[in-house]
This record gives sequence, structure tokens and C-alpha cells, in this order.
Amino acid sequence: MANDSVPAPAPHRRRPRYSGSYPRRFEEKYKEHDPERHAETVARVLASGKTPAGTHRPIMVREVLEVLAPRPGELAVDATLGHGGHAQEILPRLQPGGHLVGLDADPIELPKTEARLRALGFGPEMFTARRSNFAGLPQVLAAVNASGKREPGAPQNIPGADLILADLGVSSMQIDDPARGFSVKLEGPLDMRMNPERGQPASALLERLKPEALAAVLAENADEADAALLARALAGKTFATTTELARAVRAALPWLRKDGADLAVRRVFQALRIAVNDEFSALETFLRHLPACLKPGGRAAILTFHSGEDRRVKTAFAAGFREGFYSDIAHEVIRPAAEERHSNPRSAPAKLRWARRVA
Ligand SMILES: C[S@@+](CC[C@H](N)C(=O)[O-])C[C@H]1O[C@@H](n2cnc3c(N)ncnc32)[C@H](O)[C@@H]1O
Repeated sequence: MANDSVPAPAPHRRRPRYSGSYPRRFEEKYKEHDPERHAETVARVLASGKTPAGTHRPIMVREVLEVLAPRPGELAVDATLGHGGHAQEILPRLQPGGHLVGLDADPIELPKTEARLRALGFGPEMFTARRSNFAGLPQVLAAVNASGKREPGAPQNIPGADLILADLGVSSMQIDDPARGFSVKLEGPLDMRMNPERGQPASALLERLKPEALAAVLAENADEADAALLARALAGKTFATTTELARAVRAALPWLRKDGADLAVRRVFQALRIAVNDEFSALETFLRHLPACLKPGGRAAILTFHSGEDRRVKTAFAAGFREGFYSDIAHEVIRPAAEERHSNPRSAPAKLRWARRVA
């Protein structure tokens, strides 16, 4: 082969010297916040199996689309809009004539997602965003329907949805923003509220809870084996930051090696997040209202990320099937394919279940 067909090696370029002015603030720190300007960085982060900060990779999209089967003219509800990853895939499949109502409890991320989806061309005639807990889905459907509260161009009459999706838990944007206090790795105030305008931060909950009550939270919300011991070490104490709490968890379990201690920290954070946001009672209310929020023949899909969530979904779907609200339900849980688990480790614990309302 002629040598001249081999491209010349790129000239070696020194990496710029570290200037000592490493950005301190989250907003300055991640180039990925402006994905348009930093496409290369975003591609590199994705290729390494991570999620670029300020974004969220939707999970099991193919499987969700398969079970929800969105069709032109249908009304969809995304009860956990997040970054709009699933919504962005569902919306075009509803056209012409369909509409998606996207709910999220988070007043910080919701306007950004609404703006992002609008910029992609999803106008008010096909997409409505609502800041709401999904426990209030029936009221949201009624409000969207009520005269005067509709977005201009939104459908006249919303009796129930053809498809409803819930992708539970927190988004990568929430986890990666230290100011929200969800991250086990980044220092931030110990908050963990999806809606910081309501309720009490995790720090206040820990100060207030008695050891027995905290032990119950740790056991029920995260199956923590050392719940009683950890509760004695943490309850009634003041932890201003995420790192202070993580340090105290490690100190309470000194015999654990690093991996075991990391998992214990994750379990404590998960248990507190669920308690702070009253996640199980919101899910139970949502599941109770779900059949009534679906049109006859309507489909629901729910993605869960730990046993406490999946158990509730499985039980509610089985009861709805027995009682004749659902004509069919997922009898086996659907898991992400190996390829997705590998390329997006945050998908690994995901479980998908579905139900179809009687026609
Ligand atoms: C895993 S993310 C959803 C990601 C989304 N499917 C996507 O592809 O971008 C979960 C979202 O649900 C929201 N959320 C969690 N519980 C909620 C609730 N009870 N009501 C409304 N939104 C909730 C969180 O604020 C978060 O934005």
C-alpha cells in the first residue's frame, strides 16, 4: 500500500497547564451544561458510560415505547417528565393530533425541560408542562381540561389518557447538582427535596427523628441491615452537608471495607430521600388513581429502581387485574438489556412493569 495514503500523525500538543483556577461552582464546572457548545466533551462522557452533567439519559426507551405503543392523535401523560428524554421520544409518535402532558414535582428543572422541548419544536398544541406531584394526576387532568386553564391550542376535552408513564426516583440533573443535596459524592447542603419550596430538608428530618423512627426509615426504605446501629449514630444529630453525613455513616460502620461503606452511604441517602419526599405514599396514591386516569384500553408503564417501589407497583397491578380494572398486566418484570446496563450503569437496577385498562 502506498505510504502517502496513511494520514500524517497529529502534531503532539501539550495539555494546557493547570492554572490553579479550577472552577468551584457546579454551573461553571461542567462544560456539558451547554451541550451545543461542548459536543465533543458530551460525546466523550457518554462513551465512557457516564451521563453528562445537566442531562439525563432516558432508560429502557425501546421497551417503554413497545409497551406504551403511542399512536397519532393519542393523549399521553409523562408523570415524571425529568429531562424529557422519554417525552421527546413519545411526542412525535402522537402526531398528528396528539398531546402529551408532562408533570414534575421539581420547580427548578421543569422550566428548563419545558424550554428544551419547546426549542425542539413541541409547541403548546402538542405539549403541556405542569409542576405537580403525580399523586395529584386526576386534578391535573381536570385542570388541564378546565376552561381558561388550557394552554392555547391544547385539546378541548381530556377525559383520561391513552398512555401514562412514570419513571420513578430522581434524575441525573438532580443528582449531579450539589446544591440539591442528593449526591453521595459531591458536597452540598443536606437537602434532598425534589421541590425545595415544600417540606423539610433531610438535615431537619435527621435532627427531628428519634432513633427508633430513623431505624424504621432505614429498614423500610433501603433494607438497611444495620438500621438500628446507624440510627443511634445519626438520629437527633446536626449534619449540614452531604459529606458530613457520609462521613458519619462510614464512622459508624468502621469494620466495612470501602465498597461496603460506599453502599451503606448510598442506602442511607436513598432511605432519607424517600422519607423527605414522602415517595411511597405519593406512589401509592398514584397507583390507586391510575385506572381512573386511563381511557378504556389505555396503557400504563412504570419504571422502578428499588424493591420498595417495585413491590408496590407489582401489588397494585395484580390487585387491579384481579378486580377487573386491568385486562392485562406484566406478569414478568422487564429488565434493561445487557448493552444498556453496560453503556449506562444508572440503568442497572431498573425494572419495568405495565398494565392495560379494560376496553
Ligand atoms: C428518573 S427522573 C425522570 C426522567 C425522565 N423520564 C427522562 O427521560 O428525562 C424522575 C423525575 O420524576 C420527578 N418525580 C419524582 N417523584 C415525583 C412525584 N411524586 N411527582 C412528580 N414528579 C416526581 C423527579 O423530580 C424527576 O425529575
